[in-house]
Amino acid sequence: MTASTHDSWLHIDKSRDEPIHAQIYNRFKQAIESGALNHGDRVPSTRVLASTLNVARGTVENAYAMLLGEGIFNARGQAGCYINAPYKQTAVLVTAGSRKPAAQPALLATANSPPSHVFLPGSPAYDAFPRKIWSRLASRRARSLSATELSFRDPFGYLPLRQSIAAYLRLSRGVVCDAHQICITHGYQGALDFLLKCLPMQHQEVWMEDPAYLFAARAIDAAGAKRIPVPVDHEGLVISEGILRAPRAALAIVTPSHQSPLGMALSWSRRMQLLDWAGKAEAWVVEDDYDGEFRYSGYPLPSLKSLDQYDRVIYAGSFSKTLFPALRLGYLVLPQPLVALCQQKAQLFQPGGAIGPQLIVNDFMAEGYFSKHLKKMRALYAERREITRQTLVDHLAPHLEINTHKNGMHFVANIISPHADHVIADQFNRYGYGIHALSRWSASSSHNGLIIGFTNVPNRATAEHATQQLLACFQQLS
Ligand SMILES: Cc1ncc(COP(=O)(O)O)c(C=O)c1O
Repeated sequence: MTASTHDSWLHIDKSRDEPIHAQIYNRFKQAIESGALNHGDRVPSTRVLASTLNVARGTVENAYAMLLGEGIFNARGQAGCYINAPYKQTAVLVTAGSRKPAAQPALLATANSPPSHVFLPGSPAYDAFPRKIWSRLASRRARSLSATELSFRDPFGYLPLRQSIAAYLRLSRGVVCDAHQICITHGYQGALDFLLKCLPMQHQEVWMEDPAYLFAARAIDAAGAKRIPVPVDHEGLVISEGILRAPRAALAIVTPSHQSPLGMALSWSRRMQLLDWAGKAEAWVVEDDYDGEFRYSGYPLPSLKSLDQYDRVIYAGSFSKTLFPALRLGYLVLPQPLVALCQQKAQLFQPGGAIGPQLIVNDFMAEGYFSKHLKKMRALYAERREITRQTLVDHLAPHLEINTHKNGMHFVANIISPHADHVIADQFNRYGYGIHALSRWSASSSHNGLIIGFTNVPNRATAEHATQQLLACFQQLS
């Protein structure tokens, strides 16, 4: 079936305060909920819908971008957009006095459906990605590929991109480095994987924050290294504890700008202690600066690398948060003593990947779109963060206590009622979400909370809907 542009469900009211793009967005969601639209139905083109509703095409494009961003529309290239609702996002009705609403089969995600991006931690706002600029830059590059680009082989990556990154890091993260120290990688995962091939870590001790990014822990295990969990307090990694547990560790992996996942920044004195230890122990420190760009009051914090007088810090950046994760593009800034070794290893392991995305990202940075995009996302995320936080506080205060660090793309909500985070997360994710349980990121049993992303919560209605479903999980399990 095709969603006809004359259907009454698509009625919009220009006299209302609600922006037109939000009305279009809401009409589509309501039509799916009511059954007027079904999984697989074709959506009218933006041109046709704009002309039918007599609104600007950009208005319809905004609404479609939000629906695409939430995975409610599925784009199939030239074939157009289709409704993607293998399960319906019917609201959970929680009425006064009904403490245990029964699970509603219509809500449950199918085993293979991708998780909704609402509340998924660590995803940039897919509805706000500048698709038009990106596709213009991509097609321009595709049309003009030179012989040099077609035969490109530098295993450290496309030099102009490395120069753009060096210029960007100097300005925004205080990192003073030269392009020859920068190695392009397949995101942070590829960066860590490459490093662990360059610096063989078998049986070596590695400090890891506890809790820490799940992937990093797995990568250390896979490299045959010995993971040393080091606790984190309100100032970040407790360096004295690391020294007590493994004074001769070969490597420490840290997230100083925004501890992953708890959210605090590593304090000044801890930064100094960490660098002093690394200098004396001749250990390497990986600074995973995965979302340091997103700070909502004051300027972004300077990076640890910018303070690194011993040249022991390996800075790792990624475009997964600033652009989009499927790009699989990240980079390392190597200390001088590691450059020659890594260059040699790069010949063998080819960490950087294909040239196409590197050309586009370079143009995106060099032509000023990157800094404009980050500025826009900072403002958008600050708004979405507040909407999400407030909605959770309004409905879930007896269960959750939200940590309020003013940075990053997610926050942690500690569970204060007697529920285990993984039980709540598993139940909630059966509705099609991808929330994370904090305890699964931790080596100790002291953490019980939910890691909640807010960047793909476009409005209060979406936040309310997801929050009601989360509340229903707590009530079902009481
Ligand atoms: C702590 C942390 N570091 C880095 C990344 C980025 O990883 P990648 O560049 O491999 O997508 C993520 C993504 O979620 C993350 O949570």
